Amino acid sequence: NKHYKIAVLAGDGIGPEVMTEAEKVLQVVADKFQFGLTLTPALVGGAAIDATGEPLPAATLELCKQSDAILFGSVGGPKWTGLAPDKQPERGSLLPLRKTFDLFCNLRPGQIYPAFADLSPLHPRVSSLGMDVLCVRELTGGIYFGEKGRSDTDAFDTQRYSVREIERIAKVAFEAAQKRSNKVTSIDKANVLQTSILWRETVERVAKHYPGVTLEHMYIDNAAMQLIRSPQQFDVLLCDNLFGDILSDEIAAIAGSLGLLPSASLNGKGFGLYEPAGGSAPDIAGKGIANPIAQILSAALMLRYSFGEEDAARAIEQAVQHCLAQHIVTRDINPKSTYGTAAVGAAIVATLRQEQN
Ligand code: NAD
Ligand code: IPM
Ligand code: MN
Repeated sequence: NKHYKIAVLAGDGIGPEVMTEAEKVLQVVADKFQFGLTLTPALVGGAAIDATGEPLPAATLELCKQSDAILFGSVGGPKWTGLAPDKQPERGSLLPLRKTFDLFCNLRPGQIYPAFADLSPLHPRVSSLGMDVLCVRELTGGIYFGEKGRSDTDAFDTQRYSVREIERIAKVAFEAAQKRSNKVTSIDKANVLQTSILWRETVERVAKHYPGVTLEHMYIDNAAMQLIRSPQQFDVLLCDNLFGDILSDEIAAIAGSLGLLPSASLNGKGFGLYEPAGGSAPDIAGKGIANPIAQILSAALMLRYSFGEEDAARAIEQAVQHCLAQHIVTRDINPKSTYGTAAVGAAIVATLRQEQN
């Protein structure tokens, strides 16, 4: 019988609150679709620093290596920002995990469903046209991982990209577009940056292998603007590490909230880390009001991309949509809502159970 081992790294802030709901959802679909799950928690980020002095303890890394996938919450918060850069939760745990497991491909899908376009903060004139984009973000290169340095009086970060790094993420974008609407918009700053010129040339070359897919190039500043003006023009957005980080938060906001956007970070061989696009939300942590949907949808992406459990993934996505349609949402989406994290999680669980029959 199928059985999956999952390392559960809830982390800091709202991480543990939303992870609890995702774990409940996973247990329900495991019953329903008849597969086994072992969910093993481990310390990461600030929580791990507090307990062990290290943001990514050896035991946590070992568990990840022994697991079939990593379900990640979020790390960081004001308590740890004073630490040395490499000891901080983000740079000391999340980035090393991405690098260690070669998770070069980050997928962040964002939608405005026409039926509930009112979730979007965009004007109805725009939101009623819908949005269905997939942000394909390069995740192990670029300025995040280039040479860095600082003295008292200056500091630098380096952006480097190799043809190989650009090619492998571009292929993912074109293959994704073939299963969607056959359009790739590649985001760059080729009017200024050398890395962007190489990015453009390389993407052009990869595109020749996908004649059915339309390729368009767009500067990052224009793309940030176009997403607000007419998000329905986009299908797949191909981005480097930094531009993808920024545009994915924008996509989340357009869809309704950062609390809705899941993400899959993949190595191209089935292994992945699955986490909300948003962070530990220190401003609302501990209040029981965080939106658990990004975490729950991240679990669905894990079922799809690491385990091939497409039916279970889709069932979760449908249950989420059912709750959104009934306006069972947290306050990040509707400030007047009285539903908290647990209530939204429970509604999704109940929807999945009802469909059991
Ligand atoms: P953030 O994403 O944590 O929060 C930005 C805003 O979005 C806040 O107002 C927050 O309340 C809201 N928000 C985010 N997720 C939400 C949810 N599920 N439900 C309701 N509202 C939600 O970004 P930030 O405040 O810039 O960063 C806070 C900390 O999180 C920092 O330490 C940052 O480095 C870290 N961070 C971690 C990850 C990660 O672990 N994957 C991702 C992004 C940021
Ligand atoms: C994200 C986050 C991370 C990133 C941070 C926490 C390092 O913002 O996953 O979007 O910049 O990649
Ligand atoms: Mn981000």
